[in-house]
Amino acid sequence: MPRQVARVLFTEAQIRQRVRELASEIQRDFGDEDLVILAVLRGSMIFLADLIRFLQGPVTIEVIRAASYGHATVSSGTARIRDEMDVDIRNRDVLILDDILDTGRTLARIKGHIQSHGPRAIRTCVFLDKPSRRVVDIKPDYCGFTIEDHFVVGYGLDYKDTLRNLPYIGILEEEGN
Ligand code: IMP
Ligand code: MG
Repeated sequence: MPRQVARVLFTEAQIRQRVRELASEIQRDFGDEDLVILAVLRGSMIFLADLIRFLQGPVTIEVIRAASYGHATVSSGTARIRDEMDVDIRNRDVLILDDILDTGRTLARIKGHIQSHGPRAIRTCVFLDKPSRRVVDIKPDYCGFTIEDHFVVGYGLDYKDTLRNLPYIGILEEEGN
């Protein structure tokens, strides 16, 4: 385990099990309907790759970029969005996928932005949720795990652009948790 990681919060096996369950929930709600999965880069790429392999319906994948933290562990409050979408989402069901819902600013901004593209409906799915940190009133439609206020890394989540590759979710050492 890297020295920056204090302890493991969710193991690979726990993650796999929960992602499988999330996929069943999504499958149950959307079935064979056309669905656009919009992944917020870069944090959600591993979650995306795992989730879609448990889905059987016809899914289209698109990505959008957002960054709010810069190099800190406290949100800077400004979520920058970079939209280079090629997929036409007009009148389609869109499921926005993000790694973690923290203050809620990023997801709220992305939701607003996507709304302007005229989708049929928007749902949100986050792998982790830290409700105690919320600043904007937003709740995910699908959520992997609800966690306490820890800065976590791995499974796509970074600290200063590193540690995304850890196959588990770990709590960052420097947070003193
Ligand atoms: P929000 O706009 O405050 O909800 O921040 C959401 C974004 O901040 C996520 O997509 C992550 O990129 C980042 N973030 C929030 N909490 C953590 C964390 O505990 N570890 C790593 N990244 C985080
Ligand atoms: Mg990040």
